[in-house]
Amino acid sequence: MNPDLLSTFVAAFDTTPTLEGAAPGRVNLIGEHLDYNGGSVLPATLPMTLRVAMRPREDSTVRVVATGYPDTPPRDLSDVMRGDWSDHALAAVQMGNEVGLLQGGADIAIRSDIPSGAGLSSSAALLVALLKTMRSADEHCLLGDIDIALLAQRVEREYIGVPCGIMDQFTVAVGEPGHAILLDTKRLTHRLIALPTSHTFAIIHSGITRELTDGRYARRADECQRAEQIFDTKALCTLDLKTIKDMPRVDLALRRRARQCVTEQQRVMAAAAAMRQGNVVALGELMIESHRSMCKDFEMSLPAIDYLVADAVEQGAVGSRLTGGGFGGCIVSLVEKGQLEVWSQRLLARHPEAYFVATTG
Ligand code: GLA
Repeated sequence: MNPDLLSTFVAAFDTTPTLEGAAPGRVNLIGEHLDYNGGSVLPATLPMTLRVAMRPREDSTVRVVATGYPDTPPRDLSDVMRGDWSDHALAAVQMGNEVGLLQGGADIAIRSDIPSGAGLSSSAALLVALLKTMRSADEHCLLGDIDIALLAQRVEREYIGVPCGIMDQFTVAVGEPGHAILLDTKRLTHRLIALPTSHTFAIIHSGITRELTDGRYARRADECQRAEQIFDTKALCTLDLKTIKDMPRVDLALRRRARQCVTEQQRVMAAAAAMRQGNVVALGELMIESHRSMCKDFEMSLPAIDYLVADAVEQGAVGSRLTGGGFGGCIVSLVEKGQLEVWSQRLLARHPEAYFVATTG
């Protein structure tokens, strides 16, 4: 076990952990807000890890410590969510009890180098790491990694109240370093695609934090649901542009949300093909186009982020876009490996509020 994690656990609980687990962060390369609209997405894991140490308890108490987070009073399995950072850990333990992975509470220590509020799936990593940790107590457990991802998604949706798709949980539960995952979120089938060798995906934080629970993500999900009803479909991604245009009396904003789903789905498939062919120029163009659509049609960007994305390209990235749920967080840019250092120095000098987070590939 990671020695720092072990000492955090021992210092907090005065006993040793019996179980451990980990999960990476993720970055979505292209395909935003498609995972609850029947589409495909193309995320990749990040070389950043969230680790947990756990000792199940026989009573119903849940105690959680996390480095970098304030102390929080013990919780009880019967607690409702109270809106602080320990909710996710409590909810994972509640889910563990619901499906029989645990019988009681737990003491939990968490260490992570995945920033939260950045659109890099720190909460999916926490839920998946905790559920995998609980699973590891039973070597005969028949739950596979995709089941773990689905349980983590249920925690977000049913316990925390975020109407998210499956992309984040699936990626951090199933993803492999050095590869993107082309995930069909409707069928839950996936393919691994090797990341480009000449270029890397650089993740830069805009300096603007946001939380998925702040309501703006849910508003977009709600608009998509309304559009589904109007266009009489179960998956906005499968519409065609003519149908969107020809349907009379539809609110323009809803038409735009639908158009983002349709065009972004096409871009995801084209990006996967470009990545397989090693065509980084085509891949970069698709990322730029994706950002434009997220900005104009999905209205999930901010002027400061549009400026950062445009500048990332201006400074030499072949493509760049906002990544994740939107309204802040990180941008992802495709940059030639040999140019990375100079590129990021130039970009960050022009945007003092932004900072370098990671690369993948
Ligand atoms: C968040 C959600 C995902 C997905 C993205 C947007 O990360 O958790 O399910 O919808 O936003 O693509």
